[in-house]
Amino acid sequence: MTSKPVLLIKFLLLISVASVILNMKRRVLALLLSIAWLACKAPKKTSVESITIDPYQFNIQKKILCENGAVVSAHPLASKIGVEILKKGGNAIDAAIATQLALAVVYPQAGNLGGGGFMVARLANGKLLALDYREIAPLHADRDMYLDEKGNVQPGKSVNGHLASGVPGTVAGLFASSKYGKLSFKTLIQPAINMAEKGFALTEREAQSLNNIQNELRTYNKVMPVFVKETWKAGDTLIQTDLANTLKRIRDLGEKGFYEGETARLMIEEMQRGGGIITPQDLKDYQAKYREPHVFDYKGYEIVGMPMPSSGGLLLHQMMKMIEDKNIATMGFETPASVQLMAEVERRAFADRAEYLGDADFYKVPAKILVSPGYLQQRMKDYVAGVAGSSKMIRPGEIQKESEQTTHLSVIDKEGNAVAVTTTLNDSYGSKTVVAGAGFFLNDEMDDFSAKPGTPNLYGAIGGEANAIAPGKRMLSSMTPTIVLKNNKPYLVLGTPGGTTIPTSVFQTLVDILEFKMGVEDAVYKPKFHHQWLPDTLDIEYGFPENVGTALQQMGYAIRQRGEIGRTEVIKILPDGKFESVADNRGDDDAEGW
Ligand code: DON
Repeated sequence: MTSKPVLLIKFLLLISVASVILNMKRRVLALLLSIAWLACKAPKKTSVESITIDPYQFNIQKKILCENGAVVSAHPLASKIGVEILKKGGNAIDAAIATQLALAVVYPQAGNLGGGGFMVARLANGKLLALDYREIAPLHADRDMYLDEKGNVQPGKSVNGHLASGVPGTVAGLFASSKYGKLSFKTLIQPAINMAEKGFALTEREAQSLNNIQNELRTYNKVMPVFVKETWKAGDTLIQTDLANTLKRIRDLGEKGFYEGETARLMIEEMQRGGGIITPQDLKDYQAKYREPHVFDYKGYEIVGMPMPSSGGLLLHQMMKMIEDKNIATMGFETPASVQLMAEVERRAFADRAEYLGDADFYKVPAKILVSPGYLQQRMKDYVAGVAGSSKMIRPGEIQKESEQTTHLSVIDKEGNAVAVTTTLNDSYGSKTVVAGAGFFLNDEMDDFSAKPGTPNLYGAIGGEANAIAPGKRMLSSMTPTIVLKNNKPYLVLGTPGGTTIPTSVFQTLVDILEFKMGVEDAVYKPKFHHQWLPDTLDIEYGFPENVGTALQQMGYAIRQRGEIGRTEVIKILPDGKFESVADNRGDDDAEGW
């Protein structure tokens, strides 16, 4: 298909030639040019009447089999709004936008306006998209900004409060993705405005989660936000008037309703109140970026992931390729042999992450080498079945240098557009600072940078030069929104939150489905495990089979039991074209469809 800009250029050329040949009058020429311009402008988006759902009474649904479209997200109200948008004629991109905006209201611990994210999509026409709306380090940031005078990292500074925030990218990302949607932004944002203005009922989990952060809210805010209350309980109505007003400014003024004017003024005032460094220039300059998706083949499946500044696509690629020739299917699901193999490839991938990965706009990431077959074979040379490797011995690969809160949603529509979006504030409720008067939490994404080489961040991840802080740079992410194609058609749409456990959870879910031929529910619900090189421990989720844990311990692994790993949301497209959509049971996550 010829794109509109190309058509426009051809048309203008034609008119110019004609004008010379025919010696056309200036006024006629101007008229023709205006007609051409108008004809080639982006098609007008459709507005539909506001959708209605009951935000006070709703159920949580974990699975649905449907044929016209599906949305799986962290909150039932957000999934329901997404599906309503599909029913009104929106496509999967529209539904993903409306779902994210709804999450910004009903899921304040991770849904956001003050954070950032990534979208991986495969459009019905076959086009692959990777949209980066990751936060960036403010222009006044510097590589040592979290160190004290002795050069030690000051605990908490990159995690809580104003200095922890990168410049938010979400709003720019939503507008950049809406280019591929069909409905007007006004239509997509209105349900979120309604829920912020009139309120919605808190679930048990949300009430508990808000109760857990009351002290932090009081510590990191000078103006107390609406989230501060003696005790929240299930069924309480949360009304967010300031947030509703911010959303209305975005509805009425577009991106400028966030990055400039009143909302920007409120953000800057908040920065000044708490010693933050984001300036009006930072906000004005922020841009979401379309990038080349990270695509690779695994036994005939085409796996589409996010490139830098997410480590997700590359790590998944490395891990899948390191097991590809090992016949893991014969080892069986969650046996000592298969878990050991997977833990060892996780260890190796994460060692490379620490050394080589960072924002590729700032650091020459040797991506091609890190996924080349020869290199990956070399990485597995010292793998011994049945014996734990050691992170002291297994270092980042030798290469020739060329000089916990996030949320995922999976969406599909009947035309075959598939969208995987993971967005984040980083920690639960981000920096815990709410922009006074604007009603949204700011992220603490600066902690995803390496504050000092070798010093672990919130998720225990370490890094160095590649992921050092620099003004305008994007911090390295683990988010892994992923689409798997089979016979060049969407087959799986998946992703999860969970910090550094994200790539390993997506890896395990894919191995479970593609290799162990497990059903989607089992692949999502069964206990997961995680190795990230350093610390040299194998984390197992509660419920992980005890005998397998013991066998792994005997092989030499330091086993660490831990709470829930991720919240994986999967849509599988069945051979008859139906969508099997499964929401994780580790939270209020919900699958809707029609
Ligand atoms: O981008 C990243 O990798 C992290 N900021 C993600 C944080 C996360 O998943 C927390 N959720 N549980």
